[in-house]
Amino acid sequence: MSQPLEWGRRYLMVRPDHFRIDYVINPYMSTQDQPDPELTLKQWDSLRQAIVDAGGEVEVLAQRPDSPDMVYAMNLGFATADGRAMLSHMRFEPRRKESLTAADWFTGHGFALGRPGSDGVGPHFESGDAFVFGDSLVVGYGPRTEAEALKHLAIEWGIRVRGLRITHEGMYHLDLPFCPVDSTHALVYPAAFDAASQAELFGIVPDPIVLTDDEAFAFSANSIVVNETIIMPACSPRLHEILTGLGLRVVVLDLTEFHKAGGSARCLTNPLDFDLTAITAPGG
Ligand code: ARG
Repeated sequence: MSQPLEWGRRYLMVRPDHFRIDYVINPYMSTQDQPDPELTLKQWDSLRQAIVDAGGEVEVLAQRPDSPDMVYAMNLGFATADGRAMLSHMRFEPRRKESLTAADWFTGHGFALGRPGSDGVGPHFESGDAFVFGDSLVVGYGPRTEAEALKHLAIEWGIRVRGLRITHEGMYHLDLPFCPVDSTHALVYPAAFDAASQAELFGIVPDPIVLTDDEAFAFSANSIVVNETIIMPACSPRLHEILTGLGLRVVVLDLTEFHKAGGSARCLTNPLDFDLTAITAPGG
């Protein structure tokens, strides 16, 4: 029997007042295709409102003018309901200033801060690669997070960590090919991973909902579940039937301005309430 997720009711979002494409660090970005500021804000606010309508809470952080990708709050750090936060150590230098503001925010809100590395020293870790699911922290590594960071998380917090090696450059964070839906179901796009990690993925997820190429590249797995609502940037009729069959209310939002820099609903929201209880290793 599946149970609702234990997390995903409280989020941090960054108001997109300085969202631009100044540099290219993933296959979706082009400096020739800039977002429209007004539409950006409208789409962002529809997401914030949908979370509130679903019974969730949203904390809002102002965007640094020097950090255009900071709108993708999912990457600011991995935060837990009991007040721990692992700050991201971004792979690409232009995103590293975000961590200065994120560190102040987490500390100012009572989170005890850990960091796998900073300023290019130590393993890279981007929190868009990490989810609690089943008995472990599932972490994608390869394009952004480095394998070394998984050891850091396991040791610092005494938790079980399972790594999935991402090999698809268009699926550069785990939140693009993987979305926990409830305690046993997750949206998955196996082609994002190497063969060993595909097998591992099917070991981790008891009831996988496998996405087609079209669904995956419409960012359908970059969705968030808030109570009994799933908020998605795209949902095919086939997926709609599966998700409503699980008792979910499906809300589809136009977030296409944010797709221009390679992110959608999940990337724009950072859960503040991950629960590590079930994944704490014996003696950890
Ligand atoms: N332009 C951003 C980057 O490449 C997009 C981040 C998307 N966020 C996510 N959690 N997948 O870093």
